[in-house]
Amino acid sequence: MTVLITGGAGFIGSNFVLDWLGQSEEPLVNLDKLTYAGNLANLGEVRADPRHIFVHGDIGDAPLARSLLERHRPRAIVNFAAESHVDRSILGPAEFIQTNVVGTFTLLEAARAYWTGLPPAEKGAFRFLHVSTDEVYGSLGRADPAFAETTPYAPNSPYAASKASSDHLVRAYHHTYGLPSLTTNCSNNYGPYQFPEKLIPLVILNALAGKALPVYGDGANVRDWLYVADHCRAVRAVLERGRPGEVYNVGGSSEKRNIEVVREICAVLDELRPRGDAQGPYASLIRFVTDRPGHDRRYAIDAAKIRRELGWAPQESFASGLRRTVQWYLDHADWVQGVQSGDYQRWVDLNYGARKQ
Ligand code: NAD
Ligand code: TYD
Repeated sequence: MTVLITGGAGFIGSNFVLDWLGQSEEPLVNLDKLTYAGNLANLGEVRADPRHIFVHGDIGDAPLARSLLERHRPRAIVNFAAESHVDRSILGPAEFIQTNVVGTFTLLEAARAYWTGLPPAEKGAFRFLHVSTDEVYGSLGRADPAFAETTPYAPNSPYAASKASSDHLVRAYHHTYGLPSLTTNCSNNYGPYQFPEKLIPLVILNALAGKALPVYGDGANVRDWLYVADHCRAVRAVLERGRPGEVYNVGGSSEKRNIEVVREICAVLDELRPRGDAQGPYASLIRFVTDRPGHDRRYAIDAAKIRRELGWAPQESFASGLRRTVQWYLDHADWVQGVQSGDYQRWVDLNYGARKQ
């Protein structure tokens, strides 16, 4: 038995690989294009592990996808591969359409051809699990109920629209062809190996470098925060016990305003890596900067379905998950140095250079 995963050198995918191989003998084939967000250093622990077969390639490469399926004959595909950052999608949406829409479509076509040819018992057991986001549901007002699986799609950024589009294709492949697909829509993940373009690692690393901590707009936008290990457990639960054709929302039950998140990071750093009296507390680095265009106000997840049907619940509180995350970044200076070289500085200049304080 084998599982094919895509995007397994990125943040969530690499956590999933390490987690999986820590508790299962079943091999993983890991197809990843190694974009700026893909990093083999995330997979250092399994470099010599014969259960991890890394393939450098694109989910949009149809012959490659077909040949991998024929050669490895996986019982399932878990699709993490995507362009994943909203700010990048605002400054350059084309890659998002290419990978998230066309790439997912290409992978679905390869999966359909492979699945159609499977013997009946294997056909029934096959799964295509598509990892998506809560951002497809749009933005909530302060008093609105959290997103349920039945909430109508209303994506607001090019990123969210590209993920919504891929979700619709996955749904259609189940409805039209019977492909046993499942979709998970989760909230904001955080934890080890997250690329420092996203809020939490960006704030940790800027703070440690004594740089400004940029908070978009008034800092009152709300996100629900899900510790990445909890998300990995949810994906495994859906893969093993989820009902084909279904969607499962996954959330951390941790709604926070951005400014609260930034202040909590500062407080943990004040404790774990205090600055000298002359510099003052980390929170003195906070700066409110020009808002993100079309910035969604609030996301919140109703995870009752996955709790009820699959018995999943998050194990990490935001306070404990954040402390672990800050400690991980403090302990992994080499990893940090590796990802901050090269294109990273160009991205920081592009995204933050023109924002007024
Ligand atoms: P990430 O940007 O850290 O990693 C994406 C990975 O996909 C990278 O390794 C990259 O090299 C690879 N990739 C990109 N294009 C590819 C292509 N065409 N072919 C093969 N590989 C390709 O992303 P992440 O944060 O780990 O997110 C993983 C998935 O989870 C994405 O589908 C994302 O939309 C979804 N998601 C993420 C979050 C979050 O908070 N990070 C929240 C909800 C949903
Ligand atoms: P982000 O980590 O980019 O995730 P997403 O846009 O997918 O929710 O951003 C989380 C929140 O933090 C979002 O409301 C935007 C905000 N944010 C800032 O205030 N400053 C920043 O520098 C970044 C990257 C994000």
